[in-house]
Amino acid sequence: MNEADYIKAYAPGRVNLMGDHTDTTGGLALPMAIDLGVTLVGLRSGERISLRSDSFEGKVDLPLNPKSPSRVEPKWGRYVAGVAAELEPARGFMGIVVSSLPAGSGLSSSAALEVATALALDFDSPPVELARLCQRAEQRASGVPCGIMDQLASAAGVAGHALLIDCTTLAVEPVPMPEALEVVVVDSGKARALAGSAYAAVAARCQAAAELLGALAKLDIASVDAVEDESVRAAARHVITENQRVRDFAKTLAAANSSSDFAQLGQLMADSHRSLAVDLGVSNPTLDALVADLIQRPGVYGARLTGAGFGGSVVALCQPGALDGTGRVVQASSGAFCESVPA
Ligand code: GLA
Repeated sequence: MNEADYIKAYAPGRVNLMGDHTDTTGGLALPMAIDLGVTLVGLRSGERISLRSDSFEGKVDLPLNPKSPSRVEPKWGRYVAGVAAELEPARGFMGIVVSSLPAGSGLSSSAALEVATALALDFDSPPVELARLCQRAEQRASGVPCGIMDQLASAAGVAGHALLIDCTTLAVEPVPMPEALEVVVVDSGKARALAGSAYAAVAARCQAAAELLGALAKLDIASVDAVEDESVRAAARHVITENQRVRDFAKTLAAANSSSDFAQLGQLMADSHRSLAVDLGVSNPTLDALVADLIQRPGVYGARLTGAGFGGSVVALCQPGALDGTGRVVQASSGAFCESVPA
C-alpha cells in the first residue's frame, strides 16, 4: 500500500465580518477563515465512505454515489453524502472526523465538513471549483438554497487576512487584518432552529428584488423606490446598502491604524446589524441583546450578527483583551488543505 493513501484533510470554518444575505444575489461579502475547523484523517481505499467521529454522533457508511443525500442518517452524513454525490469519487475513504467547530453556532461547520470531505475524496482543483462543488453538495444535503460564501471562505482562506469576495465573478481579494484588532465570536446559545425554511424565504425576497431591479451590487439606494411590494423593497434596501457597507468596510480595514478608523468599522457593523434585523428580519431578541451588551463595553468597536442569523453567533471587533472571558478570539487563517500522513 502506498504511503500517500493515508491522508489528512483540513478545512476551516468562517466568520463573516460584513456582507450577509448578499451572496445569493451575486453581491459582496467579507468573511475570514478562522482557526477552528474540521479534520478528516484516514485511508483512501475501497468502495465505501466510512467515517466515525469524536465530535458528531453515529457512524457514516455510504456508497461512492449516494442516491438521496438529504435522507442520510446520522444527519452530519448528509453533507458527506452531498459531496460524494457531486464528486462520484473513484475510491472510498475510511477514517475519522474531528471538529473544533461548535455545530449550530453559525461558523459554517457544515461547509468545513464538505470542503474537508471533498479533499479527502481526492478532489484536486482550485479553491473556486472546490467551493462550487461544496455549495452544490450543501444544497443537495440540506435542501437550503445557500450562497457560496461559506464554502469559498473555507477553501480560499488567507492567514492574517479577511477575504473580499465578489459573488458574481468569485474573485477573492485578501484584505489584511490590522494587528491592533481582535475578532471575537460570541455564541448566542440559540441554535438556528427553522433556519432552512426561513433562510430560503429570505433568499427568495432578495432574489425577487434582483429580478425586478437588476444586479443589486451595482445599484444605489434610490432604486428601491421602484419596488412596490414592501417586503421585497426592504430586502432590496438591505442588499444594496449591505453591498456598499462591504466596500466601505474593506477600504477602511485595509488602511485602518487609528481608533477613529476602528470606530468607523464599528459603525458599519451597527448599521449592518440594524439592516439585517429591521429590513430582513433575520435577528432575534437574543442576538439584539447580545450585540447591545457587547458594544457598550470598553474597548469594543462594534458587533453584529454573523452568517444567516435566526440564532448562531455574533462577531465583535475590539481592542486585544477587551472581551477576555466572553466568547472566543478567532484568528484569520489559511484555507483548506490535504496532505499525506505516514501510515
Ligand atoms: C449562510 C449561507 C451563506 C450566506 C449566509 C448569509 O451562511 O450558507 O451562503 O448566505 O448564510 O450571509
